[in-house]
Amino acid sequence: MQQRVDFLVIGSGIAGLSYALKAAEFGKVMIITKANEDETNTKYAQGGIAAVTYAPDSVEKHIEDTLIAGDGLCDEKIVRIVIEEGMERIQDMIRWGADFDKDETGKYDLAREGGHSEYRVLHHKDNTGFEIERKLLMQIHQHPNIELHTHLFALDLITQHHLGEEVTRSTGGIECFGVYVLNLKTKKVDTILSKITLMASGGAGQLYKTTTNPLIATGDGVAMVYRAKGTVNDMEFIQFHPTALYNPGESPCFLITEAVRGFGGILRTVDGYDFMPDYDERGSLASRDIVARAIDNEIKKSGGEFVYLDCTHLDPQKFAEHFPNILRKCKSIGIDPFTNYIPVVPAAHYMCGGIRVDEYGASDIKNLYAAGECACTGLHGANRLASNSLLEALVFSHRAYEQSVKKISDIRYREDIPDWNADGTTEPKEMILITGNRRELQALMSNYVGIVRSNVRMKRAMDRLRIIYGETEALYERTVVSPALCELRNLINLSYLVVKAAMQRTENRGLHYNSDLDANKSSRID
Ligand code: FAD
Ligand code: SIN
Repeated sequence: MQQRVDFLVIGSGIAGLSYALKAAEFGKVMIITKANEDETNTKYAQGGIAAVTYAPDSVEKHIEDTLIAGDGLCDEKIVRIVIEEGMERIQDMIRWGADFDKDETGKYDLAREGGHSEYRVLHHKDNTGFEIERKLLMQIHQHPNIELHTHLFALDLITQHHLGEEVTRSTGGIECFGVYVLNLKTKKVDTILSKITLMASGGAGQLYKTTTNPLIATGDGVAMVYRAKGTVNDMEFIQFHPTALYNPGESPCFLITEAVRGFGGILRTVDGYDFMPDYDERGSLASRDIVARAIDNEIKKSGGEFVYLDCTHLDPQKFAEHFPNILRKCKSIGIDPFTNYIPVVPAAHYMCGGIRVDEYGASDIKNLYAAGECACTGLHGANRLASNSLLEALVFSHRAYEQSVKKISDIRYREDIPDWNADGTTEPKEMILITGNRRELQALMSNYVGIVRSNVRMKRAMDRLRIIYGETEALYERTVVSPALCELRNLINLSYLVVKAAMQRTENRGLHYNSDLDANKSSRID
């Protein structure tokens, strides 16, 4: 089946939905998602959205905090754009119905997280993402120009490659004509032709065994763009959240928001020692790269599996008001945060790199934009400041919308796109070839390319990856496409990009720490 649409949006998180609501004023929009409509990283966001609301906070302070967290690799122009435009974009969210908590005086109740010098995080209790996702979907359902299709798995971007055409700079470069999608209900591969495509496919926490990200986070969009020969940047910078709940067997991990530390929670070793001041003067509220590495170090020193987050000194009533879901979760596994320390571990959380885009969200593939976690805008540099990603998604979806609606009237559909070629493929005989390799991949990324890396570990990862890559490509050639196989392939592409970028980086910066390199100021572990 072939369909045509003005704007195709791949992904139903904050980036895709906020773009769709605006683009729909200028044409027909189709949103596709491979899972249920709300199964996104967005839904699980806890802490909130960072933005400058009241004095004494200021744009300059938020910019400075973002630059410090990014460890010298942020694009300052982009940082200024995102922070200056942020409050206007949050007004859009409020207009769409998002309800951010206020205090008894009617002012926004701002939280503080690691790396922030001020209280500036707008939130809805401890489930801000759930509130945002719900309110955006309510708007989407009411819009006559928007169709949202669930269980459509985007396989590959359609470019000149599928037409056998040679692409050179003089022919205008690579162009995106739409996408091949696997319909998970009919099991058929359909063609969707689009004038403009927005990639909003989220992150890739599933590269690792321990992650806060749901199962959908397999980096599909980045892998598709990489295969289509678009530029992908900064992939070595994988952010580990310092405090996921240690609850063996639970996957993905339940997050204990950094706002709990902003509220006064203190990290302690298994012996009860407040270790963070030994690593950074900001203590438990240092930026995430530093806290995650410090925890990793303390876990290795103790030989245990976790450290503790101490909330026993906090006001129980206020804690319950601010963090009702965390309280419920802890109690459900027998931990009372007012009398017990909460066991926590770092978990893969956020992909700072991704599809390289310009200041308008345009990738270097013509008519393809990217926003949200799959995009690399230059905001985060070597390490994302907490709660800057929802903000970035809103700002860049808006910028991509403004740019793409200006261009759309000049774009025509390609008439000669071939159907998906499934010649010579058969149903897989055993799934273990796929699931086994996914587990192996997650193990090698966790063991060798995690918080602390070394030359020998990265080389070992690359050697193992080559084997898994070869096996999986051979399987892909002869097997009918399925989400499991395609996600594995995408995860392999991304692992390769992470390991390659990590091997090429010759200095420790932000989230990239190679123990064979000299430690710099922001990476101090003895
Ligand atoms: P997502 O919300 O992840 O949406 C991706 C969409 O793409 C999904 O609909 C998915 O199904 C779809 N998709 C993916 N691949 C395909 C495919 N092949 N075909 C079709 N559809 C596909 N950030 C903050 O700023 N503040 C926070 O407090 C915060 N807390 C967080 C807490 C947790 C537990 C997690 C996991 C993340 C948190 N983050 C937070 C990060 C933030 O939530 C994400 O970066 C952001 O929501 C990403 O939004 P997105 O729209 O780019 O992608
Ligand atoms: C958190 O609430 O700690 C997560 C915030 C983020 O990832 O930005």
